[in-house]
Amino acid sequence: MDRLIVRGGRRLEGALRVQGAKNAALPILAATVLANDVCILHDVPDLEDIHVMVAILQTLGAKVRVDEKTVIIDPRTITSTEIPEHLMRKMRSSIFLMGPLLAKFSRVRISMPGGCSIGSRPIDLHRKGLWQLGATIVDEHGFIECTASQLCGAMVCLDFPSVGATENLMMAAVLAKGETVITNAAREPEIKELARFLTLLGAKIRGAGEDTMIIEGVPTLRSAEIEIAPDRIVTGTMMIAAAMTQGHIEIENTRPHELHALIGKLREAGVQVRIDRDIIEVKRLGAINAIDRIQTAPHPGFPTDLQAPMMALLSMAKGTSIIAETIFEDRFQHVSELQRMGAMIKLDLRTAFVQGVPRLSGAIVEATDLRAGAALVLAGLAASGTTIVDRVDHIDRGYESLEKQLRQLGANVIRLHAKKEKERTLAQV
Ligand code: UD1
Repeated sequence: MDRLIVRGGRRLEGALRVQGAKNAALPILAATVLANDVCILHDVPDLEDIHVMVAILQTLGAKVRVDEKTVIIDPRTITSTEIPEHLMRKMRSSIFLMGPLLAKFSRVRISMPGGCSIGSRPIDLHRKGLWQLGATIVDEHGFIECTASQLCGAMVCLDFPSVGATENLMMAAVLAKGETVITNAAREPEIKELARFLTLLGAKIRGAGEDTMIIEGVPTLRSAEIEIAPDRIVTGTMMIAAAMTQGHIEIENTRPHELHALIGKLREAGVQVRIDRDIIEVKRLGAINAIDRIQTAPHPGFPTDLQAPMMALLSMAKGTSIIAETIFEDRFQHVSELQRMGAMIKLDLRTAFVQGVPRLSGAIVEATDLRAGAALVLAGLAASGTTIVDRVDHIDRGYESLEKQLRQLGANVIRLHAKKEKERTLAQV
């Protein structure tokens, strides 16, 4: 696996344009199977999860052409409704195809997505919702088979506002007969983005981004062209990176209103954040103040995806901060890695007590998941000495070459390619 070598101590300075959002692009790619004609998506990030989704669409029979950041999908040639197990295992988000394949082709067969390092991540809410729309769901030797000759609109109240379950149900309900009302729906910005795409396809959706969404099923959907929205989590990561390094950066192509929770907490910590339309300027002059309490919560609360990077920042604050993780049951694996770098953090179930230290020091650490990995790179930027971050494949799932983005802002981060390293070692033997 590749490694990142981070030499700490440099302030981040300059400007950066944010990539398109992975979490918006994945469900929209899945939704293209609903279309009756060619769909075009612009500003799709070049990430491993996107490559897997493209490979799945191709396996189903769709014609997909990737031209830099534009992806052109022709779903008219889809003949299969079965997602191969090896692709299902590569990415949980393949679950997004359940709703649209079922709605369009009356059948879908997938293998059960595994748990992952941040928690067990069940799919009971996806299943219950589809069942309420009239699907028959059968489990067989680790596979799930869903069938429904015609989905019918229904009242679905989610036990928890799951982002993925809301998206899956939206994609099923747009072709169902009659009206579907989803209550306790997720309100994340990616829900609005999916609704925007589905509406361009001809779907009738009201209330996306609110906790009650009403979808009036239509018989068919046409084609659409859309630009993927900027990634709010990448934006947030870069904001925190600037704060960690006493930096001063401008981030272009952002949606500041999607980041209110983070902006509030950064200001509380003493970081200057200025907003000018789609540009966010972040500047840190003095010390970082500890924060009484940060609690992750569904949008518009503090995003769980920024919990690890925020913990890296607060590990250098003046005083003790409390961080509670309420979304995923096992999302504190970065704690032991940050401790290797000198952070003083105590854990009590799903609450972390972070006592700031004046300085972190470089160490060899492992990215246990995507956002934990980003947090460790950020910690490395602020630490004294050199930090080596292993398992960069996790980071590559969500950041388009994080090291290049950081280098553009003056950081000293390089990638050691595992393949080249192996060849070099073999040559020396
Ligand atoms: C999405 C994001 C992820 C983010 C998360 C929460 C994508 C591709 N990923 O993940 O980056 O961290 O939202 O903002 O968009 N749950 C159940 N049963 C279900 C579904 C979910 O119990 O059927 C639980 C999960 O285990 C978790 C919580 O609900 O504890 C939130 O999960 P969910 O909102 O579904 O997250 P994802 O859509 O998987």
